[in-house]
Amino acid sequence: MLEVMSSGNPFQDPIRFERRVPECTVVIFGANGDLTKRKLLPALYRLAYEQRLSPGFAVVGISRTQMTDDRFRENMRESVAKYLEDAPFDEEVWTGFATGLFYMAGDVNDPASYQGLATRLRDIEETRHTGGNVLFYLSTQPSQYAAAARGIGGAGIAKGNGWRRLVVEKPFGHDLESARSLSAALHEVFDERDVYRIDHYLGKETVQNILAFRFGNGIFEPLWNRRYITHVQITAAESIGVEGRGSYYQEAGSLRDMIQNHLLQVMATIAMEPSATFHPGSVRDERSKLLRSIHVMKPDEVALNTVAGQYGPARVGATSLPGFREEPGVDPASRTDTYAAATFFVDNWRWAGVPFYIRTGKRLPKRVSEIAIQFNAPPHDMFDANGGGARPNLLIVRIQPEEGISLKFLSKQPGSGMKLRPVSMDFNYGSSFGGRSPSAYETLLLDAIAGDATLYTRQDMVEASWAAVEPIAAVWSERQFDFPNYPCGGWGPNAADEMLARRGHVWRTP
Ligand code: BG6
Repeated sequence: MLEVMSSGNPFQDPIRFERRVPECTVVIFGANGDLTKRKLLPALYRLAYEQRLSPGFAVVGISRTQMTDDRFRENMRESVAKYLEDAPFDEEVWTGFATGLFYMAGDVNDPASYQGLATRLRDIEETRHTGGNVLFYLSTQPSQYAAAARGIGGAGIAKGNGWRRLVVEKPFGHDLESARSLSAALHEVFDERDVYRIDHYLGKETVQNILAFRFGNGIFEPLWNRRYITHVQITAAESIGVEGRGSYYQEAGSLRDMIQNHLLQVMATIAMEPSATFHPGSVRDERSKLLRSIHVMKPDEVALNTVAGQYGPARVGATSLPGFREEPGVDPASRTDTYAAATFFVDNWRWAGVPFYIRTGKRLPKRVSEIAIQFNAPPHDMFDANGGGARPNLLIVRIQPEEGISLKFLSKQPGSGMKLRPVSMDFNYGSSFGGRSPSAYETLLLDAIAGDATLYTRQDMVEASWAAVEPIAAVWSERQFDFPNYPCGGWGPNAADEMLARRGHVWRTP
């Protein structure tokens, strides 16, 4: 039994979720894969620990490997204990949770597998009283998404006694055309309102908090436009390399892996117009409208406003790190970008002329994701002779690690005279709310089971972000880059600094 102790300070009490979700079965295709082990099962177990799931909750894992239910439970137990990160593993909770875990070997292309699944789902519905609610989760190779949807449809299990929904992992296509064909294939079986395209960045607490910060307070929004903001920087830096995903990554590259989805969604959340209500439809309409207002670059603009990079080998501390081309599964002459930076503009009244600089890369100096919003400097610097230097105010939204929000401003240094120094006003999740925040997958899985699609990506958004990214990918695929052009542990190619310098800006060092 989980006991929640009150500290007497409501802000310091462990965070309680409000939402209780209905009975259901989650069917995971690709149950033997990395995502299931690292993210999905730890998140579901954690929801069970928090008593968020209903007593009859069940999971059916499917993959090609032959395995008994018990073997699957044993494997998942190991993965959950290993990848739980900042949360405790509780034997008693696990024992209860594991009784709802089932497994079946199946082939996405074999209709018999779906017939077997239909029987399994009927049994579970009867024995665990799930009311026939089913969440299908596609965590397979993207090339199998369409086949899986057709298989589900063919076996007649896309409809049933309760609700049926489909969660799809990125990538949603490789370009605009393939994204459209994928949606068309999914729509043969599921209505768009039942398709949940997951973008885990939208489930991160700080990304969700952007909406609360902007639209739950009165003081920021009047400043949130081209009159007061000079530019916005969005950084998602990773210190890791491609971690055994060389062959996937070689096809994707950083532009498709991070910018097309996660970072354009973050940009849309920063830049969208307020929605009239917090209804999923209205919030997603505003996000979509913003994505559709991103200026689509012409080839000569791509040359000026984007930078591609690839890491080369380097010694970092005592360790020699391989370059991308030396990673397992990667072509020794690979032209794939492991770093991408771009300057986007939004063609609307609020943002005309304001650059949104986005950068992401592997093997950068540290893991940090943040948004830095730079405001105008004061128009006249009366403290110039006193070390004032009229610095612009910066608002930093820290997505990870150490989630929080800081406002940087100048303050008088104590003592005689008028010397100014930059200081910071900080809000930190850990110290303000105590306890841990739910992981993005916990939030998003709970939302999908509850039927709340606010944080999920819709087809029109996917298409709008492909429209913004495709011209860049097209120019890059034709260009001869001088790769590698940054060492492991560096902040990316020099050209990324030059891109900002042309507009008198510099990247912030997070
Ligand atoms: C995934 C990408 O979507 O996001 C990975 O495919 C990347 O390449 C990961 O490492 C980053 O997520 P996070 O939550 O660690 O910032």
